[in-house]
Amino acid sequence: MTAANLIEAAGLVKTYVSRKGLFGTATHVRAVDGVTLSVAPSTTLGIVGESGSGKSTTGRLLLGLEAPTEGEVKFDGKPMPAIKTNAWRDLRSRMQLVFQDPLAALDRRVPIGTQVSEPLDIHAVGTEKERQDRVETLLTAVGLRRDQAGRYPHELSGGQRQRVVIARAIATNPDLLVCDEPVSALDVSIQAQVINLLRDLQEARGIAMAFISHDLKVVRNISDRVAVMYLGRIVEEAPSADIFRRPLHPYTRALVSSVPVPGTALKDRIILQGEPPNPAARPSGCAFHPRCSMATERCKAEVPAFVTVEAGRKAACHLVPAASTET
Ligand SMILES: Nc1ncnc2c1ncn2[C@@H]1O[C@H](COP(=O)(O)OP(=O)(O)OP(=O)(O)O)[C@@H](O)[C@H]1O
Ligand code: SF4
Ligand SMILES: [Mg+2]
Repeated sequence: MTAANLIEAAGLVKTYVSRKGLFGTATHVRAVDGVTLSVAPSTTLGIVGESGSGKSTTGRLLLGLEAPTEGEVKFDGKPMPAIKTNAWRDLRSRMQLVFQDPLAALDRRVPIGTQVSEPLDIHAVGTEKERQDRVETLLTAVGLRRDQAGRYPHELSGGQRQRVVIARAIATNPDLLVCDEPVSALDVSIQAQVINLLRDLQEARGIAMAFISHDLKVVRNISDRVAVMYLGRIVEEAPSADIFRRPLHPYTRALVSSVPVPGTALKDRIILQGEPPNPAARPSGCAFHPRCSMATERCKAEVPAFVTVEAGRKAACHLVPAASTET
């Protein structure tokens, strides 16, 4: 990690208490299990993985919405202050969350212009007239019309509602956006528009972005780097183009093989077998071994280390050799 990164996370662990059944015994599950990552200004880190792999928990840890059980998050080189302290509140305007369901994120009874203005009101940005002008500028920036400010969320389409949420998220000129499945609830035809909007805003404003999705297709068009998560750990991280051109980890290979390339038929598709990941029943050794067609006895016994395999690429698999450290 370098000082140029806006956000850096090292060795993040988040443990939750999980109960088997209503009255079952409580066990601790590691939803996030040793995540180290960083995001530089004006770049996007895509975070992908199946349901339950720990993506949203990682996002919440990055924003300081939850405290890690172990590890540390640094924002702009300084440790993330504890949630709800004044120092954390001061930082909140610099980091925002956009999540899946715009209807849940918005108040149905309040006009959208008022909702976009909320963070400006909270942080007392400018005069009332200046805030009003800014709301109109923000609505225009996300592709809505000024005269739509008086509308209520239910008077807009799903894509337009997500644009409102994005306008509100960028109202305070944040340095970091954590987007958690921001287009998953939208029609496929609208997804690309919203992704293009996020990309344009990022480029214009130099925002660092963590873009979380279970869908590799979706992260493809927006990410500079991609981190693939499996059962709370990053199993591969690489520049986006490399992930798609030459995935190294068997899990990444399976995910990539299911992404259609325009104009070509899906071939050599690797179907993921077995149970989806469940942190309450983590397999021994490499957690992916029950579903991996290449697993060996070693995989059942030994956790593969997350190592540099090439410049700028890391993976955790016994079959992917570490780069030579000799100079
Ligand atoms: N507050 C919580 N209490 C107990 N367990 C939790 C809590 N939050 C998450 N978990 C568990 O942690 C694991 C990771 O959850 P998380 O929401 O981070 O996954 P995800 O990758 O975002 O999944 P999805 O794609 O379904 O959104 C899951 O098994 C989940 O059940
Ligand atoms: S370590 Fe073994 S089980 Fe895990 S991904 Fe590599 S080959 Fe498959
Ligand atoms: Mg999630």
